[in-house]
Formats: sequence, structure tokens, C-alpha cells
Amino acid sequence: MLEGRVTVNGTTVRELGTKADAASDDIRVDGRRITMPERHRYLLLNKPRGYVTTRSDPQRRPTVIDLLAGVRDYVYPVGRLDYETGGLLILTNDGDLAARLTHPRHGVARVYEAKVLGVPDAHDLERLSRGVTVEGQRMTATSVRVLPSRNDRHATLQITIHEGRNRQVRNMLEAIGHPVDQLTRIAIGPIRDAKLKLGRWRDLTDAEVKSLKKLSAAAESQRPQLHRGGHRGHGEPTTHRPPEKKSAARRGPQRRRSR
Ligand code: URA
Repeated sequence: MLEGRVTVNGTTVRELGTKADAASDDIRVDGRRITMPERHRYLLLNKPRGYVTTRSDPQRRPTVIDLLAGVRDYVYPVGRLDYETGGLLILTNDGDLAARLTHPRHGVARVYEAKVLGVPDAHDLERLSRGVTVEGQRMTATSVRVLPSRNDRHATLQITIHEGRNRQVRNMLEAIGHPVDQLTRIAIGPIRDAKLKLGRWRDLTDAEVKSLKKLSAAAESQRPQLHRGGHRGHGEPTTHRPPEKKSAARRGPQRRRSR
């Protein structure tokens, strides 16, 4: 500094202790710009239904960003939950992690609780695990579990998927004749939080971020093998929407799709 090698916004500064802000000032040593490493932020939001998963909405509907009171970092949602879907959503400014978590083939497991119309039978559940094809896209559930219930008009399923296709869970369940009434995401890889109140957010802990990074890196190297050895080639006939083509006996109650 004393040698006149430091400039702030084009002015040479020699006085020790001179203050400058690396985020907003142009600070150079020997003409080379000094930049601060970007501070990554990782948030977990419990999204209510009725919010769009985007930073801004041309239709001016409420967005998930509206729920982030007090957050000044420019975070964006990792993947998407439909307007009508609730549950856990990660928001970050770490583009690398966001890309890896949402990779269409290498994505981490996401677990949903889906209240559906009617009660799927063993054959329906098997179809979800083998994979159904909707509008030319094959979609598979990694696991499906029916939660105990005494109600025979609805069932609640816990369904895990790794691919992140648009409206995947809704489309898959509609394809087997059991449309979704309510959908909630309850886990993203190792991240769960049953205590996070609806509409509230918190920072992910360092341990959670570390485990997400580890998992997404591992998923990236393993995913192609899962595809090859897993669900391809079972030969289930293609299911096209609309599902009304299915036989009435096994269709279960029908409902309009919510957008
Ligand atoms: N699958 C869906 O159908 N909707 C979501 O919001 C997320 C997964």
C-alpha cells in the first residue's frame, strides 16, 4: 500500500487502514481486481399452496420470494413445486449445487405425500414402480408406500422420485387413475423438517449443506447405472393422457386437474 500499488475506484490509496467495500468498490493491487468469494446461502422453506415457485410472476400471484422476509441475498428456488403443491423447497445462490440437485437424470431423491382419490391396488403401485409413460416421457417412482387409512375414498401415498419432470407426481398418479387431491413434499435427499411451520424458512445447517453436496456428487456418478439396470424394458404399454381411456372398473374417482 505504502508503495502505491493499491487503487480504490481508480484512486491510489497509501494510507494504512483506509476502508473500502470489496462488494461495491473497485479495489485493485498492481492493476488486478480483488474480488470477494461469493457467500453462498442455503435456505429451506415450507411452501404453502397458492405460491408460485419463481422470483417474479407475470400474473402477479404471490411468489415464494414473498415469504423470505429479512433475506437480502439473491437466492432462487432449486427446482419447482407447483402452485398447488406445498412442502419443502430449497432456495440458494449456489448455482452449481442447484444444477446438480435438479439434474433431470442425476437428481437426488424427493419424497412426496400425495392424497389421492380412490385407493390404488397392488397393480397400480407396481405400475408406478415399473414406470408409466405420459406424453412420451417415461416416469418412475423409486418407491411407493400406502399410508394406513380407514377411508376407502381416499388414500395417502408416500412416493419417492429421482427424476424431476414437470408435474411428475401428479401426472403419474393421474395416469394410474388416482388423481392427486393434495400434494406435499416432505424430503429432499437427507433434508426433512416436520417442525418447520408452513410459510416459514430457515438456513440449512452446515451439516445439511455438506450432506446435500456429497449426495448430489454421488448421485451424479451413480445415476446412469440405475437407469440401465433398473426400470427400462419391462414393456408396460404406453399410457397416454387423458386417462379416461382406462377401463372404468379400475379407474377410481376422477377429478379435474388442478393447475
Ligand atoms: N410433482 C408434481 O406433480 N408437482 C410438484 O410440485 C412436484 C412434483
